[in-house]
Amino acid sequence: MAQEAHREHWGSRIGFILAAAGSAVGLGNIWRFPYVTGQNGGAAFVLVYLAIIFVLGFSVMLAEMAIGRKAQLNAVGSFEKLRGGAWPIVGWMGVVAGFMILSFYAVIGGWTIKYFIWSFGGLMTEAAAGKAGDVFGGFVTNTPQVILYQAIFMLMTIWVVYKGIGEGIEKYCKILMPALFIILLILIVRSVTLEGAGKGLEFYLKPDFSKITGSSIAAALGQAFFSLSLGMGCMITYGSYVDKQTGLPGSAIQVCVIDTAVAILAGLAIFPAVFAFGVDAGAGPGLTFVTLPSVFAKMAGGTIWSALFFLLLFIAALTSAISLLEVVAAYFIDKGWSRPKAAWIMGFLIFALGIPSAMSLTGAPKIAGKDFLDAMDFISSNVLLPLGGVFIALFVGWIWTADARKEVTNEGTLSFGIMELWIWVCRVIAPAAILYIFITGLKW
Ligand code: PHE
Repeated sequence: MAQEAHREHWGSRIGFILAAAGSAVGLGNIWRFPYVTGQNGGAAFVLVYLAIIFVLGFSVMLAEMAIGRKAQLNAVGSFEKLRGGAWPIVGWMGVVAGFMILSFYAVIGGWTIKYFIWSFGGLMTEAAAGKAGDVFGGFVTNTPQVILYQAIFMLMTIWVVYKGIGEGIEKYCKILMPALFIILLILIVRSVTLEGAGKGLEFYLKPDFSKITGSSIAAALGQAFFSLSLGMGCMITYGSYVDKQTGLPGSAIQVCVIDTAVAILAGLAIFPAVFAFGVDAGAGPGLTFVTLPSVFAKMAGGTIWSALFFLLLFIAALTSAISLLEVVAAYFIDKGWSRPKAAWIMGFLIFALGIPSAMSLTGAPKIAGKDFLDAMDFISSNVLLPLGGVFIALFVGWIWTADARKEVTNEGTLSFGIMELWIWVCRVIAPAAILYIFITGLKW
């Protein structure tokens, strides 16, 4: 295939790891993980989550990276090249999932930009007056504004993908990921040194093993897959830009560690502050855009803390959005489109599909009774990602096994025991576990 000879590659191993970590670290880590943990048994849930990440998450991530690196093609092309038959359908599901996830992800990404800017003008005053809920409601039902910020977020995403692998994705992730980490650390130091922070730490991390039930394990599995960007060919696509010298198992572990660390740390930034000011922490998804502004408004220098927090959220969202668009664009680029054409056209179409999500609360059609945004989220995150994960694991475990073994040991880093464990996780454990969450998570 002509494309292969000219395929772009990451400039360095650290560039690849930061790009993959940028994909993994997203809204899922900062907005979702903390409240899911708070609701499901604190430190006990974190233990279950860690086991899932490092056994199942790591295995599926390594499977995806190996497939992509071997084939040097996008998610669909990789399956076509390595086996053909019906397997490319798995790649297609990934491309469709990327399209759908990015459509609503960009809407929320737009909210983070709005809240960042708003931190400097008015948000703190409103929140101090107890109106954080009202202003949030006012903003999300102001359709032209929501679409404007969604468009700005999409333009930034398209811009980075348009610039390519080395000059775009890698370059920006190498700046943005360290920035994200520094902002997070600053926020944690501020939060845990507030008076009364201890109660928040207790709520967040106090182990409560009685809360570890079938449904909390399913919650941990679902969270792990979404958070690691698995099941939709993202790591296949990023893996296809990796050269033959880079060790895949070590890279996959590092991405898992960074992703998990950021998720756990995000809770340390959020809950101590929430409890220190006696705000209700059970706010669930509204925690980020309603509870936190009221918390910041009560802190000295609230504007700065609010701006830093929404900047953090924006960076996390942007580096994930880039990877979602890249999955879609890579397919068309391997088909012969130029990168600018693929980035602009696909970016525009995804933006268009996102408009009904942006209008979820203001008259967009509901899908079988669910808001449009929630329906997109459900179909992609609860249906397409788990199914994709099952088939990717089965593919490596049963179909492409001998080559998969070679692909991950070319640098000689995997011991026999770990290799066998990896193969058996792909064969049986991951498919069974993911099917279990798939079925328990199917309540519309
Ligand atoms: N991992 C991202 C997050 O945690 C979301 C994502 C899912 C990105 C799938 C790419 C692919 O927010």
